[in-house]
Amino acid sequence: MYRKQTCGELRLANVGQQVTLAGWVQRVRKMGGLTFVDLRDRYGITQLVFDESDGNAELCEKANHLGREYVVQAIGAVRERASKNAKNPTGDIEIVVSELNVISSSEVPPFTIEDNTDGGDDLRMQYRYLDLRRPCVRKNLELRHKLAFEVRRYLDGQHFLEIETPMLIKSTPEGARDFVVPSRMNPGQFYALPQSPQQFKQLLMVAGMDRYFQIVKCFRDEDLRADRQPEFTQIDCEMSFVDQEDVIQMFEGMMKHLFKELKGIEFDTFPRMTWEDAMRYYGSDKPDLRFDMKFVELKVDPAKESKFAEGARPEAVMDVLPAGQFSVFDDAAYVAGICAPGCASYTRKQIDQLTDFVKRSQIGAKGLIWIRKNEDGSLKSSIDKFYAPEVIAALCDRFGANNGDLMLILCGERRKTQKQLCALRLEMGQQLGFRDPSKFVPLWVIDFPLFEWDDETQRYYATHHPFTMPNPDDIPLLDTDQGKVRSWAYDCVMNGVELGGGSVRIHDSALQAKMFKLLGFTPEKAMEQFGCLINAFKYGAPPHAGLAFGLDRVVSMFAEIDSIRDTIAFPKNNSGRDVMVDAPCAIDQAQLDELQLALNLKEE
Ligand code: AMO
Repeated sequence: MYRKQTCGELRLANVGQQVTLAGWVQRVRKMGGLTFVDLRDRYGITQLVFDESDGNAELCEKANHLGREYVVQAIGAVRERASKNAKNPTGDIEIVVSELNVISSSEVPPFTIEDNTDGGDDLRMQYRYLDLRRPCVRKNLELRHKLAFEVRRYLDGQHFLEIETPMLIKSTPEGARDFVVPSRMNPGQFYALPQSPQQFKQLLMVAGMDRYFQIVKCFRDEDLRADRQPEFTQIDCEMSFVDQEDVIQMFEGMMKHLFKELKGIEFDTFPRMTWEDAMRYYGSDKPDLRFDMKFVELKVDPAKESKFAEGARPEAVMDVLPAGQFSVFDDAAYVAGICAPGCASYTRKQIDQLTDFVKRSQIGAKGLIWIRKNEDGSLKSSIDKFYAPEVIAALCDRFGANNGDLMLILCGERRKTQKQLCALRLEMGQQLGFRDPSKFVPLWVIDFPLFEWDDETQRYYATHHPFTMPNPDDIPLLDTDQGKVRSWAYDCVMNGVELGGGSVRIHDSALQAKMFKLLGFTPEKAMEQFGCLINAFKYGAPPHAGLAFGLDRVVSMFAEIDSIRDTIAFPKNNSGRDVMVDAPCAIDQAQLDELQLALNLKEE
């Protein structure tokens, strides 16, 4: 037997026992005639001690020659430590070793196997199997396991069936880009890897499965960010004979179950916000509600709106900014700002830095206007030369500013400016320490617009996907004002992260045909791409709805970390590469020949 105990379980109660441990050498310390070895496994670290004065010089010699990450077996007796380590659960005891066996030696690892490692990102990813030995990374995988386990427990209790759907499916051009796989048996033809099991789960509803879920790999060939991987995992769900409310209740229940079981946190009912309000007050469809700093509108001119802008037409706000005094505001369709509490003391340099921040190409604002309400109540602003003091004072009132606050204002086209102001709000929230990762504020965002306008191609696209049910109240608008049509789609948002989203699906063939038409599909094209689902719906489709959570994002929320990368055992880097196994890579000519593929790479 390699071991009888783990490195995490021995305590004072075990003193006097003979034990056998196996694990990795974390550290060897020689102190006079004593040698201490920290032995590590998944469960913890236990201190081994070798004492020259015990007369076993050979054993001590062996211990002194252990290197970091050697795999060893140690047999010995548990004894109480003279100097205890309260930080380690096994810190009250140590093992006086009587037998030491080296099972595997190790080369010197390329970085230290500790939470505070000296290894950079690239190196850690290249040697991910060593990185995973670090407790902070291992803990995330343990959490991921527990979370997936609790998801299954909850959904099983609600009569969901976990059903696998295929990984080699048909490519559809809507949504993100597909990863494709050539078929040897069907030369010139390709499978696609699923971006999600969307069509299959709807077919499972037609098949009468009633409640389906799957913890499933999805693949999207899109640009990567901290919260996006090309290969990620969804908790994918679908239910029959339900409406939006049923789905929201079911999955709010799941999130509450997870928080209670894994973090001991209990939530009240999750608040809800319409997409329209989320954009209006936070400039985002996934507002971070850990802090307030709501947008304050100073000017909204509906006459300057694009007629294609998605969402409702705004109400006019034209009362606080007199026209004809500052051409930048005069020309803008929208002027709005946030009030940063206690920031009137920001120096010129700090404000310049914020201006640079909003002018960065990723954000794209032209400039930043500011008003300081000093501690003594006096006002100073970057637009003092354009407006009378009474106007500036009225703006402060509109903001509800207190003495000591700083108001930051952006202007331009409404939807664009809202997004810029959102970035500024998040930056200020960060600077002011309002984005505490251990605070969790959930939200359902509802009433998404059914269509999104694309300026480049000058047409509407489905915001979610073509099977999303329009809000029945808005069906008359389908023919008159597409941009205004709301959908029965919903997102589960927490701390500014979209954890999951879904919708009620269209189960009526005539309405589905109309949607395809509005989205620019000819009946032939719709049939070519979605024929299977269209045909299936001819045989009795139940009303159905569902959603999918991003498992990686949920785990990173629970782990209180920013990037989903450290919730995934073997993630891809920002260029979509697995640097450990060196993928993607070229394949042999023989493999290409078998697939009847010829490469025709363009010179860069
Ligand atoms: P959607 O595209 O919104 O919906 O995806 C659902 C959830 O999956 C997660 N997610 C990702 N996580 C990591 N990396 C990515 N590249 C990535 N893309 C998405 C997000 C997101 O909320 N079929 C629909 C769901 C439905 O309608 O039922 C769908 O896939 O957390």
